Amino acid sequence: MIHRPHLLPAAHTHASPWWTNAVLYQIYPRSFQDTNGDGFGDLEGIRQRLDYLADLGIDIVWICPIYRSPQADNGYDIADYRDIDPLFGDLDAFDRLIARAHELGMRVVMDLVVNHTSIEHPWFVESASSVHSARRDWYYWRDARPGMQPGAAGAEPNNWESFFGGSAWQYDPNSGQYYLHLFAREQPDLNWENPQVRDAVYDMMNWWLDRGVDGFRVDAIDVISKAPGLPDGGPARPPFGVGHECYADGPRLHEFLQEMNSRTFAHHPGSFTVGEASNASAESALLFCAPDRGEFNMLIQFEHVNLGLENGKFTPRPMSDGELADVFTRWQNALGERGWNALYLENHDQPRSVSRFGDPTAYWRESATALATAYFLQRGTPFIYQGQEIGMLGGALSTRADFRDVESLNYLDGREGNEVPTGLAAMSRDNGRTPMQWDDSPTAGFTSAHPWIGLPPSSSSINVATQIQDPGSILSYYKALIDARHRIPALTQGTFERIDVGEPALFVYRRHAPDSEVLVMVNLSGAVLTPHFPGPDEAWVPTRWALYLGNTDVPHSSDSVRMGSDEVHDVSPHDAMGPWEARVYLVAN
Ligand code: GLC
Ligand code: CA
Repeated sequence: MIHRPHLLPAAHTHASPWWTNAVLYQIYPRSFQDTNGDGFGDLEGIRQRLDYLADLGIDIVWICPIYRSPQADNGYDIADYRDIDPLFGDLDAFDRLIARAHELGMRVVMDLVVNHTSIEHPWFVESASSVHSARRDWYYWRDARPGMQPGAAGAEPNNWESFFGGSAWQYDPNSGQYYLHLFAREQPDLNWENPQVRDAVYDMMNWWLDRGVDGFRVDAIDVISKAPGLPDGGPARPPFGVGHECYADGPRLHEFLQEMNSRTFAHHPGSFTVGEASNASAESALLFCAPDRGEFNMLIQFEHVNLGLENGKFTPRPMSDGELADVFTRWQNALGERGWNALYLENHDQPRSVSRFGDPTAYWRESATALATAYFLQRGTPFIYQGQEIGMLGGALSTRADFRDVESLNYLDGREGNEVPTGLAAMSRDNGRTPMQWDDSPTAGFTSAHPWIGLPPSSSSINVATQIQDPGSILSYYKALIDARHRIPALTQGTFERIDVGEPALFVYRRHAPDSEVLVMVNLSGAVLTPHFPGPDEAWVPTRWALYLGNTDVPHSSDSVRMGSDEVHDVSPHDAMGPWEARVYLVAN
C-alpha cells in the first residue's frame, strides 16, 4: 500500500452541515462483542470497543435495533420502544455507551423501526384483543375476500406478498379478520393514516433525542403509506413481491415524512437522519433528501445491491464489467449538488461485498481495497458495516441448521428437500451477520461462549488483531480512506465527474473543488487494463498529479510526480492498472 498523508495538512476540514465530512460505522449489536458470555453481543461490548472505532476515525455510530423485542427479526420487531432488550443490557448501559461515545467525539444513531411493531407490542396486543378495541385501527385489519371463507386458502384480503415470502396477511381466528404484515408474521404494519399512531411515534422519537441520541436511521420508511383501498397488485417485479407498487412510495409518504421531521428532528438541530428506501430511484431520491424538502439528510437506496436480482433475490445472475460503476455514476449524477448520498457496500441485510462483488480467493486484499476506494470517495457520507474494514467474507451456509434469518428460513420452508440452493447460500442475510472477527481464537474474540451463529471458515485468518499492526492491511487502508475524507476538502464538497477511459471495468472519477482536486482510479476486475483518457481537446486529462494513496506495494512507473518539491518516480494515471488496483491522486492541473 502507498499512503502519503504528508502531502496534505493534518487539519480536519470544517464541513457544513457537519455530516458532509463524517464517516459512519454500522454495528449489528448481536454480533459485535459479547461481554457476559451468553454468545450474543451486548451494549457493554460496544462500549468497550468504542476506542477501536475512535482510532479508526469514525464520526457516527449507527446501532441496529436494541429495543425490547422477541427477536423474530433480530430486533426489527419491537415490543417496547422505550426500553432496551435484556439480551443487550438496559437503559443505564445505553446511557453509559452514549456518554463514552460523546467523550470520544462520536455521535450515536439509533435504528427507528416504525413501519411495524412486534406482535408482542402492547399496542398490537390491545388492537388484536377485539374488533371493538380502541386501538383496532392502529394496525391494518381486514375481512377475507368477499364470498370467501375466512382463513381458507386464497381468502386473504388482497394478493400482496411479504418481503420475506408468502402472503402479507395473517389470519386471526379470534376475530375472523386478517392483519397486514409486509415483513414477518410477527411484524404487523402500523396504520400511519391514524394520527394517534403518528403522535405516538413522534413522542417516542423525541424521548430518545432528549435522552442524548444524535439521530436515527429510519427503517423501511418508503412503505408506510399504502394505496387507499389496499387494491390487488399487478405482476411482481423481482426482487420485490406482488403488491410492492401499492405500498412503496404511497400517496401520503412525503406528507408523513415532512410531518415527522417538523415534529421531531426540526426541534433537535444537528440531528442526523438517514432513511432506508428500497424503492427509491435516482429520479425519486431527491424527494427524500433535497434539503428544501425537510425530510432526511440522506437515503439508503438499493439499486447497486439489487443488481442482477431480476430473477429473484435468491437466484442472482453473474454481473458484468462496469455494472456497479454505472449505477454509482447514475446516483452521483442524479443527486449532484442538490441532494446527498449515503454511500455503502454492505449492511446487515447484504452479503459481504468482497464475496459478492470482489474476488475472495485470488485477490482478496486487492478487491476489498479496490471496492472500498470505488465507493468511499464519491460525493456523500460513507458507511462502513462492521467487519467490512477487515475484508470479512460470507458465512458457511451449507445446511438448514446453519441459517438463523427469518427470510432465509421462510425461503427454505417453501421448498422441497434439504438441499440449500447456492443462490440462498450466496445471498442470505446471515452472510453479513456472523460475529465480528477480533482475533484468531476459535470464537474470534467475539465471545467466551458458543456464538449464536457460526463463524465462516475464513475467520481464523481474517481478524482485527493481525491487521491493526500491518500497514499493508485492508484495515490500514480503510483508516487511510477515512483520514483522506477528513483532510481533503474536494472529497467533501467537490463535484463528481466520471471519466470514461474506454474500459467498462475501470471506474475513474474526479472530485473537484476550488481549493483541491482528487482523481480516483479503480480497476473493478481481475484483468490488467490500460486507461485511455480522452484527448486534451475533448475533455479533462490529468497533467500534474501526485499519488496520494494506492493499494499496490510498488510505485511501478516511468513517469515522475510533478507536484510538490520531491521528484519521485511514480505510477502515472496513464499507466496500465493491475488486477483490482486502486489509486488516488491529488491533482493540480
Ligand atoms: C429493514 C431492515 C431489515 C429488516 C426489515 C424489517 O430492511 O434493514 O433488517 O428485516 O427492515 O424491519
Ligand atoms: Ca452478551
